[in-house]
Amino acid sequence: IRRRKISIIGAGFTGATTALMLAQKELGDIVLVDIPEAEGPTKGKALDMLEAGPVQGFDANIVGTSDYAETADSDLVIITAGVARKPGMSRDDLVNINAKVMRSVTEQVVKYSPNSILLVLTNPVDAMTYEVYRTSGFPKHRVIGQSGVLDTARFRTFVAQELGVSVEDVTGFVLGGHGDDMVPLVRYSYAGGIPLEKLLPKERLDAIVERTRKGGGEIVNLLGTGSAYYAPAASLVQMAEAILKDKKRILPAIAYLEGEYGYHDMYLGVPTIIGGNGLEKVIELDLTEEEKQALDKSAESVRKVMKVLG
Ligand code: APR
Repeated sequence: IRRRKISIIGAGFTGATTALMLAQKELGDIVLVDIPEAEGPTKGKALDMLEAGPVQGFDANIVGTSDYAETADSDLVIITAGVARKPGMSRDDLVNINAKVMRSVTEQVVKYSPNSILLVLTNPVDAMTYEVYRTSGFPKHRVIGQSGVLDTARFRTFVAQELGVSVEDVTGFVLGGHGDDMVPLVRYSYAGGIPLEKLLPKERLDAIVERTRKGGGEIVNLLGTGSAYYAPAASLVQMAEAILKDKKRILPAIAYLEGEYGYHDMYLGVPTIIGGNGLEKVIELDLTEEEKQALDKSAESVRKVMKVLG
């Protein structure tokens, strides 16, 4: 029996935070990869984290490198490489720079870990996941994007604050692209099994939905430089854990669609089952006319970004 191997491409704020959280949960040995120019800091971060192990009581090897040979035979590869969004910059502005990064990173990753599962975070994430999928040649269930866990985490945070209850008891549900026109579905969201619509007036729920939609921008504006990374890292870790422990969790994820919800040949956020085989199933639900229209609008935004990629 050997420990699982997890590679994280992009050892910036999100990549490094993800590495630490994965190690704290002892989900596997970790390889942090960044560009050659950042080799020293990448090795330094990895060693610093490793030295937290005795204090926190985790056994996980953590190394930093710019050499993809060290990622060989990874079970899971998490991609956070790229440029983060700056204030005033739309997610779409990032598309060309980050698409190029996705292509070069994915070529290296698949060369050394042809059987891995790829989990993508880099924004604009729906289109970047598509780019990784196209470049990898992997089957669709082994290329997954993260956005819904984060979006619902923000929603759950705001609802729990509003109700003064545990975040653990609040669930959320979001469909569509990771962007300002994502589709949070309040009618599928609960606190302790009670529909939120029975606990909060419509105007409060509408305000929370609006804040959730703009949740990424709220953090960007406060930080001044860079974008959110603690909650994004936590969201990646939840998905990683579902895969590495074959938990078969129902989580919102960015999945390749071939007709589900009426969309073809694109990646979009939908409810899924995540387990040892990666994205094992897309769960299809009946939507109201209004919800379907909102989802169409969100899908259209994702398509616009995909068009930039050609
Ligand atoms: N190969 C490997 N690493 C790369 C490459 C590349 N080709 N290009 C850039 N990187 C690295 C950078 O050197 C940097 O260390 O990716 C890292 C990105 O880290 P940060 O700039 O700290 O950005 P972060 O906040 O972690 O966000 C990363 O996640 O949430 C998304 O929108 C966000 O797309 C962004 C990504």
